[in-house]
Amino acid sequence: MTKILTLPDEAATRALAASVGAQLQAGDLVYLSGELGAGKTTFAQELARALGIKEDVTSPTFTLILEYESGRLPLLHCDAYRLEDLGSGELADAGFFDFLERRDAVRLLEWPEMVANFLTAPNWKIEILFDGEARRASVWKSD
Ligand SMILES: Nc1ncnc2c1ncn2[C@@H]1O[C@H](COP(=O)(O)OP(=O)(O)OP(=O)(O)O)[C@@H](O)[C@H]1O
Ligand SMILES: [Mg+2]
Repeated sequence: MTKILTLPDEAATRALAASVGAQLQAGDLVYLSGELGAGKTTFAQELARALGIKEDVTSPTFTLILEYESGRLPLLHCDAYRLEDLGSGELADAGFFDFLERRDAVRLLEWPEMVANFLTAPNWKIEILFDGEARRASVWKSD
């Protein structure tokens, strides 16, 4: 089921993330897409907070995958932005397949488009649509 929501301000993005976060279960894979500045990090921060994670969630741009353990479920946060040109051997070396196999954790994947050939089916697809001015979210949840 896909829902389209308007996100008039940052609080709306946070409210959406809180709602998704409250529904997450172990093993859920969440795709998070959106152009630069769309609000992906904002969404990730509030999703983590909804899981009860106390650490500050930053962008895992330089460390490919960050793990947070202080919530009701472990959260693995991966940013695939720089993985576009990697083959399966390099992705394995980067720990990407270990990330996909962690069924004990919630797995949040930014820029899934960059690793589309290697992905398993998600439980959630969140896309923040941003035209430089207004933001909307497309939210899909598997049945
Ligand atoms: N719904 C919203 N309405 C207005 N501003 C928002 C909204 N959501 C987030 N922002 C603001 O947009 C800016 C960019 O947000 P954020 O850093 O979360 O985006 P991002 O998608 O992670 O960006 P990047 O691609 O550069 O990592 C921040 O200043 C944030 O407060
Ligand atoms: Mg970001």
